[in-house]
Amino acid sequence: MASEKSLVAVTCTAPVNIAVIKYWGKRDEDLVLPINSSLSVTLHQDQLKTTTTAAISKDFTEDRIWLNGREEDVGQPRLQACLREIRRLARKRSSAGEEDPLPLSLSYKVHIASVNNFPTAAGLASSAAGYACLAYALARVYGVESDLSEVARRGSGSACRSLYGGFVEWQMGERADGKDSIARQVAPESHWPELRVLILVVSAEKKPMGSTAGMQTSVETSPLLRFRAESVVPARMAEMTRCVQERDFQGFGQLTMKDSNQFHATCLDTFPPISYLSDTSRRIVHLVHRFNAHHGQTKVAYTFDAGPNAVVFTLDDTVPEFVAAVRHCFPPESNGDKFLKGLPIRPAPLSDELRAALDVDPTPGGVKYIIATQVGPGPQTLDDQHAHLLGPDGLPKPAA
Ligand code: PMV
Repeated sequence: MASEKSLVAVTCTAPVNIAVIKYWGKRDEDLVLPINSSLSVTLHQDQLKTTTTAAISKDFTEDRIWLNGREEDVGQPRLQACLREIRRLARKRSSAGEEDPLPLSLSYKVHIASVNNFPTAAGLASSAAGYACLAYALARVYGVESDLSEVARRGSGSACRSLYGGFVEWQMGERADGKDSIARQVAPESHWPELRVLILVVSAEKKPMGSTAGMQTSVETSPLLRFRAESVVPARMAEMTRCVQERDFQGFGQLTMKDSNQFHATCLDTFPPISYLSDTSRRIVHLVHRFNAHHGQTKVAYTFDAGPNAVVFTLDDTVPEFVAAVRHCFPPESNGDKFLKGLPIRPAPLSDELRAALDVDPTPGGVKYIIATQVGPGPQTLDDQHAHLLGPDGLPKPAA
């Protein structure tokens, strides 16, 4: 057991991000180097975040990790890669003379505890926030100040984009050692205040194939994926950056939908094929296009990752009407869950014209609930000692 004064603990939080130009496929499995660049929006931590405490002590005899209160195997290769990488950076820093030569803390074992403020069961990608938070907390506790893209990336590729707030690109880089494969902020979280994000949580019928195995099979078998990476994404990265910089919602929304559709097309082009979308996902696609057609412009845009949940982008003044349309198409089932979570949404009626334009047979319960959120900041360090998830003995505090 650790004596109180010998323990150094830090607690950090990190956000979820959602890609609007998707990453799918590695050119180096070990270093987690992608076959194309990607661009994402960082979601606000008020609604979705991971909190991680990392503590080091000379009294700890082994590295240990607890996720959502349960101890997990610290020997997982991705976790080990993150730990190795952060310790390498810490050693590099101290040998560069920036600090006392080899501070004792470098040899200390670490205890890590991490929790999400959203249900893991909802099938929302939590690995990006989780590994970004791990990288950030480990860097603080070991005194590392260099770029953390590589540490986060080793856990989960998309995690490097959760190291920044606002709009973030992950430049694929060209070097074999991955030194130029880094995340960079394109615009800060304050850049587009009207932008809103609605997560439509869809009932998942089965556990989809994980992204690691999925993208590996796609790289091996899909000619469409190769074409996408080489001939489509470079121009899309430039165009998406322009749309963000100019706050061009029409362009942003259309390109977001096209890129999501192309990603899912490469999944179908994979052999054996992979399909992440469910019937409800496809009904949401249909609803969005009908909604936009009714208005004669792109007012809402969907994107889907490796699962059936939809993430919908829109501007604040469109939210109430779109949510009314979702309610009409997917009448909520009273299962005790609140249908609307997150940012408050003003109720709005559905006009007869829009109802007719949607032209759907309602699917009760298709959408379990909606989380309303917005663009948010990058990782934060919490100064309050009470925020620590580990007690002075280095073990998880009992859940409050
Ligand atoms: O970082 P991973 O291995 O979880 O892969 C993420 C893949 C997508 O979410 C489908 C796309 C992306 O760019 O986030």
